[in-house]
Amino acid sequence: MDTTKKVFVLTGAGISAESGIRTFRDSNGLWEEHHVEDVASPEGWQRDRELVWRFYSERRKQVLQCQPNPAHTALAVLEEALGDKLFLCTQNIDPMHESAGSKRVVHMHGELLKSRCEGCDRPPFYDEALYYSEKEIPQCECGNLIRPHIVWFGEMPFAMRAIKEAVRSCHLFITVGSSGAVYPAAGLVREISYRKDMGEDTRSIYVGLERPDNADLFDEVVLGKAGEVLPELLAKIP
Ligand code: APR
Repeated sequence: MDTTKKVFVLTGAGISAESGIRTFRDSNGLWEEHHVEDVASPEGWQRDRELVWRFYSERRKQVLQCQPNPAHTALAVLEEALGDKLFLCTQNIDPMHESAGSKRVVHMHGELLKSRCEGCDRPPFYDEALYYSEKEIPQCECGNLIRPHIVWFGEMPFAMRAIKEAVRSCHLFITVGSSGAVYPAAGLVREISYRKDMGEDTRSIYVGLERPDNADLFDEVVLGKAGEVLPELLAKIP
């Protein structure tokens, strides 16, 4: 691949499906039998902190047993070639990109293996502990409770400024395994389509099992499993 060009890659749940991590849209609005708003919203957290922590503790346990697949590895290899010309942005909270060797990953929806204080500015910290009862939930020095470092529904995704700047300057935009249903991530490709209309040198490719909701905005849609299609696709790009 031409190492003078900037590449933006957005990954979604589909890239981790072959690693054994379930996607969202195939679970009928339920996550492991819970209503999304009970376990992934600030209101849910206020209502029942124990339930929220039990849910994320289970998910921590699961991802700690998962391994990255060839799609994650292909992106780690791409980073070795492109360095900071690759902007890897994921909606996933699992650590599969890092496990595959990627060093600069922007987790716009947070990270499952990190926690932070619900009240103060203490930075998020690595945490693979499991909390199953209210009294196990740690307290910050400031007196507030420690919560998962996850962007819940109704909260602002992280790093939006850096993400938008990177989308504005990339030559190639690739989305892997995302249904195109959750914004703002689903809207990023619109900027590429606009820049193309303005005559700029940029293009977009979608890779995934099925056509996403925003498929019409991509220049190319490549259907297949990420672990099979992505390594080959990246190897072919001039
Ligand atoms: N390879 C490639 N794509 C796959 C594979 C696979 N092996 N398996 C499934 N897919 C595709 C599905 O066809 C679907 O289009 O991955 C997509 C997964 O879509 P979602 O489950 O909606 O995941 P995502 O788009 O990442 O969700 C976005 O929604 O609930 C929130 O915060 C959560 O980050 C998440 C966000």
